[in-house]
Amino acid sequence: MKDKAQNVACVILAAGKGTRMRSNLPKVMHKVAGRAMLHNVIDTALSCNAQKLVVVTSPDMGPVRSEVGARYGNRVSNVVQERQLGTGDAVKAAEHALAGHVGNVIVLYGDTPLITRETVLAMSAALDVSGKTAVAVLGMEVPVPNAYGRLVVDRKGRIDRIVEARDASPKEKAIATCNSGVMAIRGNLLFTLLARLDNKNAGGEFYLTDLVALARKEKHDCVMVTASDPEELLGVNSRVELAVAEGIMQRRLRKRAMEGGVTMIDPDTVYLSQDTRFGSDVIIQPDVVFGPGVEVGDGVEIRSFCHIEGARIHTEAVIGPFARIRPGSDIGDNAHIGNFVEIKKARVGRGSKVNHLSYVGDAEVGERTNIGAGTITCNYDGYSKYRTDIGSGAFIGSNTSLVAPVKVGDGAIIAAGSVITRDVPGDSLAIARSRQEDKPGWAKNFRDKK
Ligand code: UD1
Ligand code: MG
Repeated sequence: MKDKAQNVACVILAAGKGTRMRSNLPKVMHKVAGRAMLHNVIDTALSCNAQKLVVVTSPDMGPVRSEVGARYGNRVSNVVQERQLGTGDAVKAAEHALAGHVGNVIVLYGDTPLITRETVLAMSAALDVSGKTAVAVLGMEVPVPNAYGRLVVDRKGRIDRIVEARDASPKEKAIATCNSGVMAIRGNLLFTLLARLDNKNAGGEFYLTDLVALARKEKHDCVMVTASDPEELLGVNSRVELAVAEGIMQRRLRKRAMEGGVTMIDPDTVYLSQDTRFGSDVIIQPDVVFGPGVEVGDGVEIRSFCHIEGARIHTEAVIGPFARIRPGSDIGDNAHIGNFVEIKKARVGRGSKVNHLSYVGDAEVGERTNIGAGTITCNYDGYSKYRTDIGSGAFIGSNTSLVAPVKVGDGAIIAAGSVITRDVPGDSLAIARSRQEDKPGWAKNFRDKK
C-alpha cells in the first residue's frame, strides 16, 4: 500500500440532523476524547495528505462552519447542502469546491469518528490497483444489520449494487455484508454519475449508494474493502453510541501511551484526551483524568485521583494524589503538587512544593519555594483577577492568605496564619496576624466555676 494517498480529496458529510442525540449541539460537534467528532474525521483525512477536503453542513450549522474555519483555515472548504435530500445530494454540494480535482474522492461521515488513516489509505489504494475499478466501498459484516445498506455481490466478488434496508427484499435483507458508508470514487466519474441519481426509492432520497449500480452499468468494477477492525466504523447516532465510541477511543489512546513508555497501573481508569502528550517513564496511578492540552514530561509521576487540563508538567514532577491542575499551569522539573491542591494559570518553578490543601491561581512561584498547607492566593475581588508573585527559595507558612496583587521576594519567610496584603521584601520575615495573648490560670478558673 502506498503510504500517501495520491492526489485524493475527501468529502465529509455532516449535514444530517442527529435528532436522536436530543441535543442543541449539532451531532458532529459532540466530543470523543476531548475532540469534536467532525474534527476527528478532518484530522484523519488531513493525516492522509488529502489534497482537498470539503465538509458538507446544513444551512443552520453556521457555528460548525465557523469552528472548522477557525481551526483549519483554508485547508478545509465548508459547503452548505441547502436541503437534506440524501447522501448523494450531499456529495453533489461539494462539486464546486472540488472543481479541477482530478484524483480520487473519498466520502467520509462526520459522525463516524473512529475511522483510521490506514483504512482511508486502503480505500484510495483500492482504486489505484486496476484501471477498471471505479468505486470502492468500505464493507463490514454485521450480525444484525438492521438499517444498514446491504452489499449485493456477484460471483466474482464485485459489488453489483447497494440496496438500502428500506428498499430491500426479504432475501436481500438476509445479506450480512453491509455498507459502512465510506466510499471511494474515481474523481472524473463522480459528478457525471451523481447527475444521474434519482430519488425513486422508499426514502425519497438521492442515495449515494446508487452510484455503484450506475458505475456497473458503465462497465466499471466496484470492489469492497474491509476495515482491519470493524470497531472503527461505528456511527454515532445517540448518546449511548457516543459513549461506546468514547470507550473505543480511550482504549486506543491508552494503548498508544503505554506503547510510548507510560506505565498505567489500571489503564481502564485513566481518561485521556487525543492531544495528551507524554514523555517516557511516566507513571500514572489509577483514576486520573486528562482534559485537553496536557503535556507531561519524562519521569513524571501522577498519583491517584488527579484532574489535569491545559497544563505542562515538566520532568520528574510528582502530582497528587487528589490534585487539580487547571488550564494555563506550568509545573517545573521536580516540583511536587500534593493532595487537595488546586493550581490555576500558575507557574510553579523547579523543585518547589505545594503539598497540601492550597489554591495557587494567577501566580508565579519561583524555584525551591515551599508553600505551606492551606495557603490561598486571594486572586479575585468579585470583578477582576490579580496576580501573586512569589520568588525563589521562599517559605510560605501554613494557612497564609496572599491578597493579590502582591509580591513575595526571594528567600522571604511568611509566618503561619498571615494575611499578606503588602509586598514582602526578599529575605525578610513577614508576620501579619494578631499577637498572641496568654492569660495564666484562666482556663482552670473557668472550669472550676462550671
Ligand atoms: C447510509 C447509507 C447506508 C449505510 C449507512 C451507514 C446511503 C443512502 N445509505 O445510510 O448504505 O449502511 O449510511 O451508516 O448513503 N447526510 C448529509 N445530507 C443528507 C443526508 C445525510 O450530509 O442529505 C450525512 C449525515 O449527516 C451522515 C451521513 O450523511 O453523516 C449518512 O447519513 P444517514 O442519514 O445517517 O444515512 P443512513 O440512512 O444511515
Ligand atoms: Mg446513519
